[in-house]
Amino acid sequence: MAILITGGAGYIGSHTAAQLLAQGEEIVILDNFSNSKPEVLDAIRTLTGRDFPFYQADLLDEGQLEQVFQENAIHTVIHFAGLKAVGESVAKPLLYYHNNLTGTLNLCRAMERHGCFSLVFSSSATVYYLGCNTAPFREDFPLGSTNPYGMTKVYIEQILTDLAASDSRWRIALMRYFNPIGAHPSGLLGEDPNGIPNNLLPYIAKVALGELPCLKVYGDDYDTPDGTGIRDYIHVCDLAQGHICALDYLKDNPGAHPINLGSGKGYSVLEVADAFERASGVKIPRVIAPRRDGDIARSYADASLAKEILHWEARRGIDEMCRDAWNYTLLHRQQN
Ligand code: NAD
Ligand code: WQD
Repeated sequence: MAILITGGAGYIGSHTAAQLLAQGEEIVILDNFSNSKPEVLDAIRTLTGRDFPFYQADLLDEGQLEQVFQENAIHTVIHFAGLKAVGESVAKPLLYYHNNLTGTLNLCRAMERHGCFSLVFSSSATVYYLGCNTAPFREDFPLGSTNPYGMTKVYIEQILTDLAASDSRWRIALMRYFNPIGAHPSGLLGEDPNGIPNNLLPYIAKVALGELPCLKVYGDDYDTPDGTGIRDYIHVCDLAQGHICALDYLKDNPGAHPINLGSGKGYSVLEVADAFERASGVKIPRVIAPRRDGDIARSYADASLAKEILHWEARRGIDEMCRDAWNYTLLHRQQN
């Protein structure tokens, strides 16, 4: 019996795969490499000393999915596969709705056909980005988003909630990640976006490398102590551990369960840039730029539910997150 990891070659999926293998679990990875590279699979094998079946397959291809379920006894799925660039989703909503929604529907249908009813889904704190919600965000807040990417998460959560209500065999965790950053301490796994990064940490890392001239701080006139946006950053290894705790929880808890995975603590853009300077010893020049569309002033979790029901909490602080991100950046640059 094995755990299927969709999107397991990606940033969060690869860390979770490595952690599951290290704990002795059997896994199968499925990925179409639309936003990842085959080398990541070798890194997981090197790190853990274990092998696993891999399928280069697309969730939009039902035949490929059927083959994965026929050839493996899958008891649980951790579903990371999806497109995630907010700006691109505004430009290409059909691509996002098709990939994320149809992919999830195909996956759930294949699970049902094969009697697999346990699912951990990657949702996002972006589902809270409504004018009426103020941080700390709690799981019972109303949901909505400012962009098509975020709406795919809102819709998928609704579909999975309906599914769980229709059949008590389903056990579904809706994991609402805040801002995952950092990398595996070995430097073998991490985040490696193509082109100019949209997200803060990969952008800062490229500035530290000298590949970009300076950090553009999107707005310094928010209602926050230093005027810049506050986010709840979480180390990707803590996030991976949260999935493993969710698998345990689902064993005894049917239904659909939204759960925040965040630290409960917020850092401003300037505080993150300062922490990265401390970790890297490299100065990060900054310029103030206009606010970015769709951004909000503050996003951080009420992390109490995960603590209560998963017995999980984020352990690693901002300095460790920046240190591991920088370590990965340096090692990865040397490999390329
Ligand atoms: P990622 O892009 O690194 O990983 C996603 C993986 O899914 C990639 O390897 C990609 O090739 C694969 N994929 C995409 N569509 C596919 C398809 N149709 N069939 C097969 N494989 C497909 O992203 P990540 O940062 O690891 O995020 C994982 C999940 O977590 C995503 O669903 C994302 O929306 C969600 N999430 C991410 C963040 C974040 O900041 N990284 C925050 C909240 C939620
Ligand atoms: C963080 C802060 C920016 C870049 C996004 C998605 C969200 C989730 C996580 C998937 C904000 C500021 C950023 C830069 C800056 N992903 N910033 N200069 O926007 O909180 O969340 O990733 O689900 O859906 O929206 O993360 O890293 O882009 O921004 O000043 O070059 O850094 O304005 O305050 P965000 P981020």
